[in-house]
Formats: sequence, C-alpha cells, structure tokens
Amino acid sequence: MYNVAVIVASDSCATNKRQDGSGVAIRETVENAGYHVVSYQILPDDRQQLANAMAEICDQHQAELILTTGGTGFSPRDVTPEATLDIVERLAPGIPEAMRQLSLSITPRAMLSRAAAGLRKSTLIVNLPGSPKAVKECLEFILPAVGHGLDILTGASQNCAR
Ligand code: MTE
Repeated sequence: MYNVAVIVASDSCATNKRQDGSGVAIRETVENAGYHVVSYQILPDDRQQLANAMAEICDQHQAELILTTGGTGFSPRDVTPEATLDIVERLAPGIPEAMRQLSLSITPRAMLSRAAAGLRKSTLIVNLPGSPKAVKECLEFILPAVGHGLDILTGASQNCAR
C-alpha cells in the first residue's frame, strides 16, 4: 500500500471562500484503490509555497505519491505546474499526456490543462485538474499505470514484463 499526499492549490479554498471538492474526490478515489492518504493540505496558488510543500514531502519520504489539484489552467494565478517543475529531478510527461488524451475525448477544453508530472527522490508528483469530475476521470484512468510506476520507483518491482 502506497502513501499519498494530497495538495489542493486554490486561493479561494485556502481562504475558506469556497469548499474544497476536488481534494475530497482525490481522497475517495485513491482510498478506493487501496492507497493511504497521509497528508492533506489546502494551499494558496503561490509558486514558492507549493514548491516548498512538495519538496518537503519528497525529502522527508512522507509519501510515494503527491497528487495536486487545481492551478493547472490559464488563470494568472495558476502556477501548480511551474511549482512542480521547480522541484522535480526527473520528468514523467507521459502521465499528463495520457490524461489530456483521455480528457480530450470528454471535452475539448482538456487542451487547456497545463498539468505536469515528475519525480523527486522516491516520490512521484502528478498535477490533476481542479474540478472533482475531472479529478475522478483522470485518476481512474492513470492509477493502474501509476501503481506499476511506483513499484518500479520504489524497487518493489524490477521489470515491466507483464
Ligand atoms: N479533464 C477532464 N477529464 N474533465 C474535464 O472536465 N476540464 C478541463 C481540463 N481537463 C476537464 C479536464 C478544463 S475546463 C480546464 S480549464 C483545464 O483542465 C484546466 O483545469 P484547472 O484550471 O481546473 O486546473
């Protein structure tokens, strides 16, 4: 069972102006898939704060997987991908590519997602979109492959021949 840290990037949720629904959707979906949620932070759309929070989780080995939600669109305050790219050591572009491919079959607006993914130490970080519906659609699609990726990342599995 892998540990998951959830980060909700949202100015309005961080100031209690809006209720967080997408972080809740992440928690439900990953728990149903057998993951353990070890931390849950609601942060403003601040590049430095988001980057620090992600780096700390990776460097202290708190979780094998960080899932962010929000801040991947075109709003001037949307900086989650930049915060992620600031701190990852290796890129994992196939994951956001797969999410956009799936999501484009649902809405052409999926092309507006700037989500990124990458690895720092033994943690995978994946940016998810900001709506509960999009979170569920994307997560259910990527989780089986992500699980295998985590097996490789952590050394639980040595090869991909399956
Ligand atoms: N992906 C899926 N699967 N379903 C969706 O409804 N909405 C999109 C997109 N990805 C959507 C989706 C929309 S409307 C936008 S603007 C971008 O993701 C960026 O989302 P964000 O700004 O909420 O992070």
